[in-house]
Amino acid sequence: MTPRPATTGPVSQPEASDSYPRVIDELRWAQTVLSVAGVESPRADAEWLLASVLGVERGRLAVIDTVDTDVRDRFRGAIERRSRRIPLQHIIGTAHFGPAELTVGPGVFIPRPETEFLLEWAAAQSSSLHRPAVVDLCSGSGALAIAVALMVPTARVHAVEKSPAALEWLRRNVSRAGAEVASRITVHAGDVTDLEQMRALLPVGAVDVVVANPPYVPSAADVAPEVYHDPSDAVFGGADGMTVIGPMLAVIAELLRPGGVMGLEHDDSTAAQVMAAVDSTDRFGDVRAHTDLTGRPRFVTARRVAGADDAHGRMAG
Ligand SMILES: C[S@@+](CC[C@H](N)C(=O)[O-])C[C@H]1O[C@@H](n2cnc3c(N)ncnc32)[C@H](O)[C@@H]1O
Repeated sequence: MTPRPATTGPVSQPEASDSYPRVIDELRWAQTVLSVAGVESPRADAEWLLASVLGVERGRLAVIDTVDTDVRDRFRGAIERRSRRIPLQHIIGTAHFGPAELTVGPGVFIPRPETEFLLEWAAAQSSSLHRPAVVDLCSGSGALAIAVALMVPTARVHAVEKSPAALEWLRRNVSRAGAEVASRITVHAGDVTDLEQMRALLPVGAVDVVVANPPYVPSAADVAPEVYHDPSDAVFGGADGMTVIGPMLAVIAELLRPGGVMGLEHDDSTAAQVMAAVDSTDRFGDVRAHTDLTGRPRFVTARRVAGADDAHGRMAG
């Protein structure tokens, strides 16, 4: 797979007429630079970056007329980095996900807004339960685990992640969420495709809700240059996007209590494969496909059925 090149071209900077550059001129210049570089939302990114440099809310920019030259220089540096298609969140150092603010950088996947559909579903499933047990498989920065813990104040959440680098970000984000939230989240280093390991780490047969946003992009897919700043193990799921999803289903079936539910994000091209894989386990019912606001297939949910083997204890793997 070859990253799409970031296109850049010379764009003249606003005149340094005095020591108080105008915000309107800097933003106009930045928007042009980012637009030429192929950034999808050039104006919004320019505003986020200027707000970050100034240390203010983005909405405050409307009432700021000028900046000093130090701010201008730092802003232009940030725009230069963004024009090289370094993700906005790596430059700012944080990403917002539902009610959570997460630190992110090299070594961890940047949470995507589209995963908030899965978050909303998981929070709705959990909030009617008494002290729900929730598991977030492939936790990355902890986006889903932390946001669920924030949205469902009685939830006990287990977050499982394999990558040592991502685990550092995950642990940092859990502790930044505050003592009360952190006390309800347990972080596990582990491989979600390893059934024996997951049996040893997690509450088998006692989980109410499992959420997972695993690596699922088919390896030949054409992705934006920013995606190459995410760890490839976080993004790509083999030729068919199913390398992690397939084996993980046996783990999810093992963890859920009968009647427990799971939500699994997938590539928009693999909804049918994911539903077929879930069906083929014979351990889930009520299998449903969910789309996002643009109508693209986004995640699959299913309910754990009680199987014949359950009456005799642990099911065969
Ligand atoms: C698409 S990212 C999702 C991160 C986070 N849940 C989110 O929604 O932003 C997938 C994550 O799964 C982790 N991962 C990949 N394979 C794994 C495995 N076999 N076991 C556990 N984690 C794995 C990656 O390191 C990465 O952090």
